[in-house]
Amino acid sequence: MIGIFDSGFGGLTVFKEIKRALPDYSYIYLGDNLRAPYGGRSQEAVYQFTEKAVDFLFKQGCRLVIIACNTASAEALRKLQQEWLPKNYPDCRILGVIRPVVEEAAKISRFGRIGVVGTKSTIDSKAYIRELKTENSKLQIFQNSCPLLVPLVEEGMIKKPETRMTIKKCLRSLKEREIDTLILGCTHYPLLMKEFERIIGKRVKVLDAPKVVAEKLVDYLNRHPEIESKIEKNKTHLRQDHGGQAVRYLTTDSSEKFETLGSKFIGSKIKGEKVEL
Ligand code: DGL
Repeated sequence: MIGIFDSGFGGLTVFKEIKRALPDYSYIYLGDNLRAPYGGRSQEAVYQFTEKAVDFLFKQGCRLVIIACNTASAEALRKLQQEWLPKNYPDCRILGVIRPVVEEAAKISRFGRIGVVGTKSTIDSKAYIRELKTENSKLQIFQNSCPLLVPLVEEGMIKKPETRMTIKKCLRSLKEREIDTLILGCTHYPLLMKEFERIIGKRVKVLDAPKVVAEKLVDYLNRHPEIESKIEKNKTHLRQDHGGQAVRYLTTDSSEKFETLGSKFIGSKIKGEKVEL
């Protein structure tokens, strides 16, 4: 089984692409809706919540966990990979969403001027800057947080003027810096992809992060048969979703709320189950 973890609904944008690219595996999606949003929380809090969630997913039998949340990837992934995992689940793996997107951005950027937008925690952590500089120290990175976009998306205000104005304000300084590539460093922003593209203009490539993450995961599994061979494939005892795949959708808050909003994020009807971490 592959576990997909997010603070709430947003990771479904990433999961949708993973499921499309890798339809033969069974999955557990876990959204920590009870404690979401993570985007304004401290590093300690995000780390604590993420460690608990990942531990839960490994206990359910996952061999590989993808942290689909940018904030959790920024604030918790490194410590989990370097300190926690080797002590607790040495045969399992945890991957995040920042590394794959950074690799792609560094590859496609024409002039080495990259913009990053995300939640306040993600931006303050400077995780994208650190990873991009590791990839290529000559890159110039400009970033900005857009904390209002998560609630606007969750309220379904995708095409509203308030949302457009918020994006415009968030992109103003990046536009002035003449970036050539833009990373949408938050799970919710791909739902606003068209607006971001329109506002930033044709000369800037806006990366489709969920697609990139899914493609890089396919590549990772090909390169790591020792992990791939241990991941459980589709099992009929698991709940079947509408694509006929084995998927369980777990949430730490109300399952009804998760089903309603989650179905919008993933684009098909889903059945949620409430769990306690
Ligand atoms: N999933 C979070 C992220 O990608 C956005 C929502 C939240 O703040 O919890 O950063």
